[in-house]
Amino acid sequence: MSYISMNLVTMFYLIASVCFIQALKGLSSPATARTGNAFGMSGMAIATVTTVALIFKLQAQAATTGGLGFGLVLLGVVVGGGIGAFAAKKVEMTKMPELVAAMHSLIGLAAVCIAVAVVAEPWVFQITTAGVALPFGNRLELFIGTFVGAVTFSGSVIAFGKLSGKYKFRLFQGAPVSFPGQHMLNLGIAIALVALGLVFCFAPGIEPAWTPFIIMAVLAFILGVLIIIPIGGADMPVVVSMLNSYSGWAAAGIGFSLNNSMLIIAGSLVGSSGAILSYIMCKAMNRSFFNVILGGFGGDPAAAAAGGAQEQRPVKSGSAEDAAFIMSNAETVIIVPGYGLAVARAQHSLKELVEKLTHKGVIVKYAIHPVAGRMPGHMNVLLAEAEVPYDQVFEMEDINGEFGQTDVVLVLGANDVVNPAAKDPKSPIAGMPILEAYKAKSIIVNKRSMASGYAGLDNDLFYQANTMMVFGDAKKVIEAMVKAVD
Ligand code: TAP
Repeated sequence: MSYISMNLVTMFYLIASVCFIQALKGLSSPATARTGNAFGMSGMAIATVTTVALIFKLQAQAATTGGLGFGLVLLGVVVGGGIGAFAAKKVEMTKMPELVAAMHSLIGLAAVCIAVAVVAEPWVFQITTAGVALPFGNRLELFIGTFVGAVTFSGSVIAFGKLSGKYKFRLFQGAPVSFPGQHMLNLGIAIALVALGLVFCFAPGIEPAWTPFIIMAVLAFILGVLIIIPIGGADMPVVVSMLNSYSGWAAAGIGFSLNNSMLIIAGSLVGSSGAILSYIMCKAMNRSFFNVILGGFGGDPAAAAAGGAQEQRPVKSGSAEDAAFIMSNAETVIIVPGYGLAVARAQHSLKELVEKLTHKGVIVKYAIHPVAGRMPGHMNVLLAEAEVPYDQVFEMEDINGEFGQTDVVLVLGANDVVNPAAKDPKSPIAGMPILEAYKAKSIIVNKRSMASGYAGLDNDLFYQANTMMVFGDAKKVIEAMVKAVD
């Protein structure tokens, strides 16, 4: 029986890597995102099949476990792939960040499990031969892979709990959890981790230094929890993309140990693209990137509580028909979609409304805030689902200059991303760039109540003299607007 040659493995890994790079390129624009996804899926299929073929060859050559090991690998592919397919099919778009956090936790845990197996029996992975100690370089790679993997696992579990908001457990609450000396404790653990790493890497003898390795893994699990619990409210999106980056680096670290070029390349792509996305989101939310990387940022509960207090002030409200009348008579309308539009799944009705307004000669544009919704690119995905033409969709920096000259801004289920409180240096969201809807001649806001958004803050935009609130579920309100425009 002939097995896959190492040259073929390298070639297929190279093709898969090119697919991953094309996937990232495609995903950088809504217009090419579908092609990007297709490249990503093809790359992952090629990488998985090649790796399974490689494992089959290595197992057959070693002929130690009588085929059971390979059966387990196939079982893992089927069960893991099945769970992944089921979860992806079932998950609602608004629950995507939780799913992503749950998947990151599994990548982190996988990195730790592989590292433990390699430390225990390095000869099985053809890193050394039996009876020879692990070289210093491999120990260092395994140490880093385990450390980053453990932090990613426990941090992602906390992020999952916080994002889902379903669990009563205190650490899973959206509000930041902090205590005196938290940063010093984190620093102490980080120093202890470095010391344990040195002991593990320089330990003499053939037997692995299990004691420092296990203490390090436990401390890294604890550090992952401690880094994420003080983060709350509007800072969570950055955390998810930061954990995405960590999971990539953990995979790359393990790739070095296993001498697997595919893991190194795919891990580095995930690690660096996650870090770049975190940076972009930090800029969009006016957070310091280094504070995020070190953990424990944005957790000023006192400020959040003060900002979150709801005021009893009069607001103007009107019906969907009033709003339709105002928009029909405008020359320009900018639509600001937010999380509520996604919850109501009103994107198709919205497209119909825009078509009717455009037919009446109104110039309509969509304005997208980078963190509107609950995941990066959420609003782009939502509008793409309804096949909204890409040339009607504008990013924040491209459209912010136009609000001052716009007749009507229609805010649909958005709150934080249009909150002028961001201009107040004392506000918890001070400095976060916003869509400057408050500058428009008339503002129409649709939401169900005066409740706050994700950051828990009251919004001055709703109380402006030129703002009209239209209360109700976004889908029902937009459908009523469509009828009224007719
Ligand atoms: P939010 O500030 O969360 O406001 C959404 C508003 O939608 C709520 O005030 C809610 O008010 C309304 N709403 C909910 N269901 C509705 C429905 N069926 N019909 C109409 N309105 C409905 O949303 P945003 O402006 O999009 O801002 C996003 C926030 O989420 C930011 O703070 C951001 O930092 C955070 N975040 C973003 C991400 C990413 S990566 N995008 C991830 C996690 C968190 P009512 O209850 O009164 O209806």
